[in-house]
Amino acid sequence: MTKRTYANTLAPLLAVPWAVFLAGCTGRQSALAPAGEGAEKIATLFWGMTIGAFAIWLAVLAVAAWATRAHDGPSRSEEKLTKYLVIGGGAVFPTVVLTGLLIYGLSIMPPLLARAPEGSLRIAVTGEQWWWRIQYQPAEGAPFTTANEIRLPVGEPVEFTLESADVIHSFWIPALGGKMDMIPGRQNHLLLTPTRTGTFRGVCAEYCGASHALMAFEVVVMEKADFDRWLESERGEARPPSSPEALRGLELFTASGCAACHTVRGTAADGAVGPDLTHVGSRLSVGAGTLPTDLDALHRWLAQTDTLKPEVQMPHYRMLPEEEQRAIAAYLLSLQ
Ligand code: CUA
Repeated sequence: MTKRTYANTLAPLLAVPWAVFLAGCTGRQSALAPAGEGAEKIATLFWGMTIGAFAIWLAVLAVAAWATRAHDGPSRSEEKLTKYLVIGGGAVFPTVVLTGLLIYGLSIMPPLLARAPEGSLRIAVTGEQWWWRIQYQPAEGAPFTTANEIRLPVGEPVEFTLESADVIHSFWIPALGGKMDMIPGRQNHLLLTPTRTGTFRGVCAEYCGASHALMAFEVVVMEKADFDRWLESERGEARPPSSPEALRGLELFTASGCAACHTVRGTAADGAVGPDLTHVGSRLSVGAGTLPTDLDALHRWLAQTDTLKPEVQMPHYRMLPEEEQRAIAAYLLSLQ
């Protein structure tokens, strides 16, 4: 093979891993495609450190190449240079660079840990195995509970209060800011200010059991007017179903014991063990980021919770006839 054909063969092979690697830098779950003030600072720090590390790596390679040159022992001037290199490159340079990075790193932390100004939106999030209990505490009006999806107004600081009901979880919306642990018996605070609208993905960033990787949530950043409309609708009670199938689903939902664990505001269902389902049909995902919300997915979820989310507390409902499972799914989808 000639040099040219080698290059032609190797180029696509090398391009694939790079494309895969760089694809990780975009998208709705990337800290390097920032959509929040905190994430912007973290991305700047990351790129500064990456470029700096690359420059230092090149310098070390150059010095290593110089040191391996074959010759008959160092000259007097080279001996002097070597001494400066060891003291300068080995002690002074790392001390100055690492101190500078530490000061810069610490300087961007306080805004991330600050408390939101008076009158800001506050959201309490509790990590549970393996879903998110979310309580909106708006400046005006009564607080209300929802689950597994967070909507935020663009350009406004929002203060999160983070807790855990069982083991340690970690709340992380990479596109908006840094992560914060959720520790049983303790309240942590995190301030996030989204800078652009869009749909992002939040995850649990601390191993918390069998379905840790299936504990995600959607984050929708909206214009303020859209957000206010959504908040009013989300705060309201569930509308009674209109189709006969969904009405049958509501009966089965009550008869099958679902109401013992789930709340649907406006109905008799007031269980607090599992996620609030008042507006579950309007959420983007089912099972905390596991499936997209549609009739088939809700049906699958009811029939296969044990395989879709290993060790989940919710039992499967395979014992119900298929059409009854379908009716409950239709009822859940009607909860807009
Ligand atoms: Cu919760 Cu990992």
